[in-house]
Parts: sequence; C-alpha cells; structure tokens
Amino acid sequence: MPLSDAEKLTIVAPALRVLLAADGRPARVTKVEAPPAGALAVALPSDAESPEAIVAALRAAVVGKAPPAVVVEGVGAFAVTACRTSGRAAGKVAVVTGAAQGFGLEIAQDLAAQGACVALADLNVDGAVEAAAAICRRQGEGRAMGVAMNVTDAASIRAALAGVVEAYGGFDLFISNAGVLKAESVKTQSRKDFDFVTAVNYTGYFLCVQAAAPILAVGHAADAAYRSDIIQINSKSGLAGSNRNGAYAGSKFGGIGLTQSFALELVADGIKVNAICPGNFFDGPLWSDPDHGLFVQYLRTGKVPGAATIADVKAFYEAKVPMGRGCRTADVMHAVYYLIDQHYETGQAVPVTGGQVMLS
Ligand SMILES: NC(=O)c1ccc[n+]([C@@H]2O[C@H](COP(=O)([O-])OP(=O)(O)OC[C@H]3O[C@@H](n4cnc5c(N)ncnc54)[C@H](O)[C@@H]3O)[C@@H](O)[C@H]2O)c1
Repeated sequence: MPLSDAEKLTIVAPALRVLLAADGRPARVTKVEAPPAGALAVALPSDAESPEAIVAALRAAVVGKAPPAVVVEGVGAFAVTACRTSGRAAGKVAVVTGAAQGFGLEIAQDLAAQGACVALADLNVDGAVEAAAAICRRQGEGRAMGVAMNVTDAASIRAALAGVVEAYGGFDLFISNAGVLKAESVKTQSRKDFDFVTAVNYTGYFLCVQAAAPILAVGHAADAAYRSDIIQINSKSGLAGSNRNGAYAGSKFGGIGLTQSFALELVADGIKVNAICPGNFFDGPLWSDPDHGLFVQYLRTGKVPGAATIADVKAFYEAKVPMGRGCRTADVMHAVYYLIDQHYETGQAVPVTGGQVMLS
C-alpha cells in the first residue's frame, strides 16, 4: 500500500536527522514553509514506499554533504542545523507524556537542563504549553514544545508525534509517564474506574509504543550504530501488590510485561525498552495537592488510624520506606540517565524506592 504524506514525513525527517548527524549528534531538522538558500533538492524514486527504500534514497542524496536545508519532493522542506547544547542529554530530543505536572513535568525540566529538546505531551494541553514556554525562557528558544496528547487515543498520539517530527525531526527518547490512580477495594470498585485506570496506564503505554517505535526505528535504519530509548515510568506497585489498589497495581504489573516483550522485539531496531519503578512521590501533586491530594483524602477518610494532621499521614507513609522519605524526581533521573547511558541492557524494571521494594 502506498505510504501517506504523513507517514512519509515520519520517515524522511528522522532519517535526515541521523544521516546528517555531526560529531555523533543527530542534526536538528525542522519542517519549514520556505527553505533557505542553498537547499539540497531530493526526489524520492516513485517506488520508494518503505522506510528502507526512503532511507536508501536519502542516504544516496545527502551523505557527505552538509546542506543548510533539504527539500524532499512531495514531502516538504526541512531546515538543518547543528545541536550545540551540553549536558547528560545533549543533542537528544525527548517526548515525555503526562508532562503538564508531577513527575512528567520535572523529568522534562531536568532533560532540558541537561541539553535535550523536549516535547511535553499531555491531555492538559494548556498546562503543557505553559510549562514548555517556561522551559524555553530558561533554556532558550525552541528547546521545548507543548503538545496535546491523549494516550488512550491512537489518532491523538500519532498527531502529537507528527507535530514533534515537524518541529525537531524526530526524537531519541520516549518517556511513557502519563498515569492515573483510582484506589478502591476489589469488592466495590466500579468496572468504569477499573477500565479507566487500565486504559491510561496499560493500553496507553501500548498505544504510545506502537506509534513511537516506527519513528525511532528509522534512526537505526539510517545508521546501525544509532540507539534510542523507550522508558516507562512504572511504579513500585508494578513490582509488589498494592492493598485496595488492584486496578493500579494490575496495570503497572502489565506494564512490566509489555516492557519485557517490547524490549525483545524492538532490540532489532536499536530501541532499548526499560521501566523505572519509583516509590511514592510525596512532594508531587498526586499526594500533596491541598484539595484533592492523597494526604488530604486519607486524613478525611480516616485511612491512617490516629492521624490528626496531614503531617501525621505523611509520617505514617514515610515510615514504610527504609530510607525514611518519599521518592523525588532527582532519584528518578539517576535511573533515567543510567538507562540512556547503559547500552548493554534492555527489558529491565529499575526500582527507585528507597529500599521499600527489593527485587528477588
Ligand atoms: N506520584 C507517585 O507517588 C507515583 C509513584 C510511582 C509512580 N508514579 C507514576 O508516575 C507517573 C506520573 O505520576 P504523577 O504522580 O506525576 O501524576 P500526576 O497525576 O501528578 O500527573 C499525571 C499527568 O498525566 C496527565 N494525563 C492523565 N491522563 C492522560 C492521558 N490519557 N493522556 C495524556 N496525559 C494524561 C495528567 O493531565 C497529568 O498532567 C504515573 O505513571 C504514575 O503511575 C507516581
């Protein structure tokens, strides 16, 4: 079947990024309306209807050249610039889902501070756009973008990733972070709530990888030495059961199964797939939101016997952690950079729980 224009875009731009890499870093490739002077014109053969054929045609046309722009007939014009950032994520482009707040926001902020360009994808598009603007003010124009994405909707994911490809040419790191929690007893939880948690945490991860993997694979087809990463932000509840929280724990256990299976399959495309399993993020909005956070909910419902204040509830949960405190984004980032830097590991679930969950 012939490729659509949108499909061609998600092959051409990621291939150009890697084929025009300089000093081991993919180029920054941005779709533009009018190409600058000196653009290289490329016509794809009419039978170039697969990623391999398109990559081969582009390789023949651009390798060994350093054009300021490439115009690919029937696909579009792309400005090409070198990426000159520094840091642990220098030169990378990252997509982070659920990045309007919480872990996702702080992960995106850290990656940008470490030299990545980041796309903050969220159902809350206003929050994502606002957060991206704040990152650009700190790190420089064009270093972040906010995109609307509903991880339970394949068309929404595809549209968001097409926007990222137009802005940055592709991405090297996909962080599947969007997640929801509705904790309730198995005896009373509604089917609707169970399905909601499963749709976002489990099916959403599947849909995201299904859309992201072909784009990441193009980079490896362009250069066999190119590696990319998918990282799922899982949970300690993906490693050990969670009382009265079965929908969440089940969705996260399932996420480990997907991670291991995707890792086995996508290794052929140079894509590592791993999960990070954080302990409770007490400082984030899920726990600390003054109106809807878990601390205030648990205080109101008397879930912690004898607790009279939020501080009592927090102390109760902190006492469950051998290291005596909740998980912070800085702890998670150590695992993110480990997984990116480690080229000899895939399909793993890395606990970041202060000793609360230990692998057997
Ligand atoms: N907070 C914790 O204690 C904790 C602990 C371990 C793991 N986690 C995991 O970390 C991840 C982030 O958790 P958090 O506490 O920062 O969450 P949060 O509730 O603070 O933020 C979640 C974000 O995801 C977005 N989102 C929700 N549904 C979405 C959808 N369908 N499509 C796109 N975006 C959507 C929300 O708009 C929000 O911006 C989740 O996967 C969660 O399971 C959280």
